[in-house]
Amino acid sequence: MSDYVLGLSAYYHDSAAALLCDGRIVAAAQEERFTRKKHDPAFPVRAVEYVLEAGNVSLEDVRGIAFYEKPLLKFERLLETYHAFAPHGFTSFLASVPVWIKEKLFMETMMERSLGEFLGPEADLKKLPKIYYPEHHLSHAASAFYPSPFNEAAIVTVDGVGEWASTSISHGQGSSISSLTKIHFPHSLGLLYSAFTVYCGFKVNSGEYKLMGLAPYGNPRGERARQFENKIREELIDIRPDGSYVLNMPYFRYATGLSMYDPERWLKLFGLPPRTAEDKDIDPAYMDMALAIQRVTEDVVLRLAATAKNMTGSSNICLAGGVALNCVANGKILRSNLFDRLWTQPASGDAGGALGAALALWHIGFEAPRQADEKNDAMQGAYLGPAFGNDAAVETCRRFGAPFEIIDTEEALSRRVAGLLNQGQVVGWFQGRMEYGPRALGNRSILGDARNPEMQKRLNLKIKYREGFRPFAPSVTEEGSHDYFDFKGTSPYMLLTVPVAESIRQKLPENYDQMDMWERLYFLRSTLPAITHIDYSARIQTVNKEVNPRYWGLLKAFEELSGCPVVVNTSFNVRGEPVVCTPADAYRCFMRTDMDYLVINDLLLDKTSQPPLKENADWRTQFVLD
Ligand SMILES: [Fe+2]
Repeated sequence: MSDYVLGLSAYYHDSAAALLCDGRIVAAAQEERFTRKKHDPAFPVRAVEYVLEAGNVSLEDVRGIAFYEKPLLKFERLLETYHAFAPHGFTSFLASVPVWIKEKLFMETMMERSLGEFLGPEADLKKLPKIYYPEHHLSHAASAFYPSPFNEAAIVTVDGVGEWASTSISHGQGSSISSLTKIHFPHSLGLLYSAFTVYCGFKVNSGEYKLMGLAPYGNPRGERARQFENKIREELIDIRPDGSYVLNMPYFRYATGLSMYDPERWLKLFGLPPRTAEDKDIDPAYMDMALAIQRVTEDVVLRLAATAKNMTGSSNICLAGGVALNCVANGKILRSNLFDRLWTQPASGDAGGALGAALALWHIGFEAPRQADEKNDAMQGAYLGPAFGNDAAVETCRRFGAPFEIIDTEEALSRRVAGLLNQGQVVGWFQGRMEYGPRALGNRSILGDARNPEMQKRLNLKIKYREGFRPFAPSVTEEGSHDYFDFKGTSPYMLLTVPVAESIRQKLPENYDQMDMWERLYFLRSTLPAITHIDYSARIQTVNKEVNPRYWGLLKAFEELSGCPVVVNTSFNVRGEPVVCTPADAYRCFMRTDMDYLVINDLLLDKTSQPPLKENADWRTQFVLD
């Protein structure tokens, strides 16, 4: 009989569930995709339902359940923090008492109750499989190492905070993970980055990506960015040679109050008021600020990587935790040549903790052996979510009264869609199993021609309804990537930023650094303007023929037609909306935006022949802008 393990993350943000069968990943998904609430923190009822169904197993037949952190240890941290910072923490204490009572102290009871519902009405909770609680950073480390292709690797995890740890270095060997060193709350690189995210007018826990995207707009040779960076290093964070660090806590409020930083102290330090999110145009000072904190973050991450190298002597490194989504820093680690190979968990944020917790229980708790093949990872391309067949797609189209065409063969579909992309059309591309983690990797993606100079503007403003400065990422066939990018490895999960090749670059004018943001943004920097960020970088996804044959086939067909195996790939959603899960989600998103065509499996839908969408006109209020 097979052994099943269920992993869960919940009650903070990005709830998720993952299921293993004899250690193999069967399914994993974030709750937000089902409930359509971005970063949904609720107990992941729908995600659990889905992964159990995917494994064709009922909850009572699961051998063990793993939750991604230790609730009581987290409670202890909240309690001790209150004591340590009292009386300043009194507001925080008062405000969070109900949360503690309901969600922290009784988290285990709450979870048991929620899980009990899967056993049916009047369930006997004694039948519930045993619940295990690996530590938060062990869950991250396990999510980084166990699915990696390596039998041995250094593991670095960096995030906001779990129970106490905010950064950890460990060593993975076979089926074991040994913890080597940790940095503890309140000192946290993730929370420092989040404080700057808020200061620059973006939302904590979702806007960190935007801050990273803004950084290259800062003037790298300018005095202001250098001054900001010096102030951060002198006043906010003391970075030691080994990458350990101490934050200067009077500048921060996250431990004591309900905000991230002390506004008066920051104003005095930087001489720049915080940017309010409503500010449409971004003052260049915030771009320099974004650049300064990005440089500091990269410095810490690189030092931590060097320490991990010294401590383990490994030639492989695995990364996870929210900061591992900083693909610019990941690219720097790779180019530092500290390690021969780098692998990042695609669900690096707390959603990935569900998978990590399950793997930790399997390999450490149940002592199951592990053998990696040193070549392929175990993530199956991160295509671990639900799939919907052509029948379901046809049924959805009928429900919306939506005309469609069925294209018989995969080859004909690839050729047809490649032709549309080549004509400048924007195509919603919905295929097979949904991705686990924040990135769309060619199964829930919106695609466009990367060579088209208008594409970035069009996608940002008319399709994603998001800030115009935000860059787009390319998908490229693995074998074609070297002609367009200065990069030799693979990047299947879009978690690496690499330079575009010299051969496709256009020369910049002398006054480029002084040009305003929009002028720089729309200056044609390369023959692939839609995906070349303003510093000639690109956040690349390399597509492997075996891992995603259909998407690879499309890129290949596009190459045959246009000579170029690169397309723009952005997640299938609008700003503030979770990535689409079902064909109906996809159809709605298609109809609410300026997308030209929608492909669901073998079905092709043309916008010009669709009837108006009969739904409330007020859909924009459905998703809170992030
Ligand atoms: Fe985390």
